[in-house]
Amino acid sequence: MELDGKVVVVTGGGGGIGSALGRRFAAEGAKAVVLVDIDAAAAQEAALDIGGPVRAAGCDVSDGAAVAALLDDVERRDGPIDLFCANAGIARGIDISAPDGTWDEMWRVNVMSTVVAARQLVPRWIERGGGYLLVTASAAGLLTTLGDAGYSATKHAAVGLAEWIAITYGDQGVRVSCLCPQGVRTNMVFGPGTDGTIGAEQVRRLRVIEPEEVAEAVVSGLRDERFLILPHPEVARYFQAKAADHDRWLGAMRKFQRELAPQ
Ligand SMILES: NC(=O)c1ccc[n+]([C@@H]2O[C@H](COP(=O)([O-])OP(=O)(O)OC[C@H]3O[C@@H](n4cnc5c(N)ncnc54)[C@H](O)[C@@H]3O)[C@@H](O)[C@H]2O)c1
Repeated sequence: MELDGKVVVVTGGGGGIGSALGRRFAAEGAKAVVLVDIDAAAAQEAALDIGGPVRAAGCDVSDGAAVAALLDDVERRDGPIDLFCANAGIARGIDISAPDGTWDEMWRVNVMSTVVAARQLVPRWIERGGGYLLVTASAAGLLTTLGDAGYSATKHAAVGLAEWIAITYGDQGVRVSCLCPQGVRTNMVFGPGTDGTIGAEQVRRLRVIEPEEVAEAVVSGLRDERFLILPHPEVARYFQAKAADHDRWLGAMRKFQRELAPQ
């Protein structure tokens, strides 16, 4: 897929990776780019800063009805959506003791928001002869994140959902890419409240890249229509090592966990 002339929606567009995607898509000649964020002011600021075809919309992606209304509004104003980027995501550093409500929030933002958007867009894409879904999962969805059971579980679910949509609707013209970065310099890992958390410390010890490098990898991955987009190529090696010997991989991760959180 080339971005030139396309109508694109990016959720989580007020923040690091989302706004970098918006900037890059605009530079590639997109016709319209809508940056969607629960933080409407942040999305507005990002859209104004980028300019051109980029505009902002406030929306909580965990609210299914709001997402459905937003997608209808974009199609009315800008035309059929060619590319939907399910990029909004949260990390709460939770373990198994966290209350159901916190797990529900993780599930709704990191997984269900993609289900709701796909429910609306996939039938339209099939009718129109094609469409593209980009799911921002994480290397945590292929490997894990230390200190965050909720993030690890929901990002694995995000990868599984993206695979399922690609398999089920691929022959009808629905293309899917799954973005799985490791450390990226954004608020999620470097913002307020992240210092000292195991998840952030794990990411910071690995190779941290800039959101612009992620956007570069995305444009190239979309051009090749590649399912797995890995801005950190080393993640492919870790994933292969995990698949080759799961127990050995678990042992290595336990060692990493002991280093970061001695008991
Ligand atoms: N930063 C990393 O190291 C890293 C690594 C792998 C994957 N990711 C994933 O990349 C995506 C983007 O994260 P980021 O690193 O740019 O972090 P970020 O915190 O800068 O951006 C996330 C954005 O999502 C928005 N958001 C949160 N909840 C929302 C909701 N309910 N509705 C609408 N918007 C909401 C936030 O306001 C924020 O602007 C996330 O899915 C994240 O899990 C990040």
